[in-house]
Amino acid sequence: MKKGFVFDLDGVITDTAKFHYIAWKNLAKHLGITIDEVFNESLKGISRMDSLDKILAHGHKENEYTLAEKEALAKNKNDDYVKLLADLSADDLLPGVRDFLVDAKAHNIPCAIASASKNAPMILEKLGVLDYFGHIVDPETLMKGKPDPEIFVKAAQSIGVAPKDAIGFEDAQAGIEGIKAAGMYAVGISTTEKLTGADLQVTSMTELSVEQLISI
Ligand code: BG6
Ligand code: MG
Repeated sequence: MKKGFVFDLDGVITDTAKFHYIAWKNLAKHLGITIDEVFNESLKGISRMDSLDKILAHGHKENEYTLAEKEALAKNKNDDYVKLLADLSADDLLPGVRDFLVDAKAHNIPCAIASASKNAPMILEKLGVLDYFGHIVDPETLMKGKPDPEIFVKAAQSIGVAPKDAIGFEDAQAGIEGIKAAGMYAVGISTTEKLTGADLQVTSMTELSVEQLISI
């Protein structure tokens, strides 16, 4: 029996991945670097500063900026990203998410968020689902980002569930690897990517049943 659910945010609860892509693409262009959707896959689940480092390395500009300059670039990207989220509302929940959260609550299954995003509380509030989560891991408290299991272990523990009794939901390869390394059951959600190592892969949460999952 599984006793708790741990969700990634971007690409699982809502499709903010497209806004991250737009904001990074704008910043990269400003720096004379071209990124495409294939490269963007490698940014999913990766923290803001690590994403910037990857983009700079992609453009062979990894040694051109001081830490203070990189922090300013990351802030510009985030300001752009937050503007793109201005109209985010409950209509932007991905298919099946609200029903799944309501059903988890009805079954007394606690839920937590394991997202690298520092914008997670604000986004969940705009989506109107903040109250469904017992805890949101603060990415500032982490030693290592995904694919390290730390964020998933912390998320499960924060809702009083041992990782082996928890199920993690992810849209990114780095996330699936983190969930598995944490000793949890991994559900991959993606319409485009094959998520290697996922115990189960679906294209949307509409295909998932709380009752079936907790009986695993
Ligand atoms: C992850 C996204 O959820 O959060 C990444 O998949 C993003 O693309 C990361 O870089 C950090 O997000 P934020 O909102 O703190 O810049
Ligand atoms: Mg994601």
